[in-house]
Amino acid sequence: MDRYAVIGHPIKHSQSPFIHGCFAEQTGERLDYERLLAPLDDFAGTLARFTGEGGKGCNITVPFKTQALELAGELTERARLAGAVNTLHLQADGRWLGDNTDGAGLVLDLKRLGVPLAGARILLLGAGGAARGALAPLLAEQPAELVIANRTQARADELAQRFGHLGHIISAPLDTPGIGFDVIINSTSASLQGEALALDTAVCHPGTWVYDMMYGREETVFLAWARELGLEHRHDGLGMLVGQAAESFYLWRGVRPDMMPVLTALRARLE
Ligand code: ATR
Repeated sequence: MDRYAVIGHPIKHSQSPFIHGCFAEQTGERLDYERLLAPLDDFAGTLARFTGEGGKGCNITVPFKTQALELAGELTERARLAGAVNTLHLQADGRWLGDNTDGAGLVLDLKRLGVPLAGARILLLGAGGAARGALAPLLAEQPAELVIANRTQARADELAQRFGHLGHIISAPLDTPGIGFDVIINSTSASLQGEALALDTAVCHPGTWVYDMMYGREETVFLAWARELGLEHRHDGLGMLVGQAAESFYLWRGVRPDMMPVLTALRARLE
């Protein structure tokens, strides 16, 4: 049976084996998918062992996505632009192809939810790795404009410059990024720390869609902020997690799984 894995540190709580197990069952693909804990100082060794044991593909998670980019023998354009690899796929010549499906997973989930992207005014909060991975796939949807706002504005300026050739993107300070956006996506890690963002409420209009890349049993601070403003369209990032996995599965197996039943099962599992 073909072998796949998710490699990270820590790895115990990864939902990827459950998600890919569901995809395999749903599509009738025969595969094994396991968790691999790599020592913090030996990601390369873990990957080499997995390769030696006949591994066909793997997902890479924190903190190894940049190392995976360096170890890949070949990169997709979206991985190069993201500056990180979350999916490796063994090629016929024995080299690893490095891809990044995080941003595509986000866009898949936004479309599943019915979020308008083409012609929309999008505000992306944060300018770390998660934002960088999302930019090219979001710009490919041809929004009217994409404003990237970050606490440290210089990081937003740098991303706006780097991705400027792909669409209309401008950087702004986090507290006053502009008014009345159609879609606001939070890629900051503030929700992880349970911190609220210093964001002007004028960034919203009554129909604004808000999306937090974070997820958890409890509502995130960012989504609670949106609820208190009376916004109806609020979503967490669990669908993005399933979406990035669906993209990886497609890369490995050439089959597109149905995200919806897996998302429902995962939500129930986390409750
Ligand atoms: P990731 O790879 O998850 O994006 P990262 O590269 O460490 O993680 O980036 C974290 C992002 O969250 C950054 O945009 C960070 O802002 P700074 O660049 O100013 O550090 C943002 N962030 C984290 N905590 C925040 C907070 N309390 N308020 C606002 N932004 C925050």
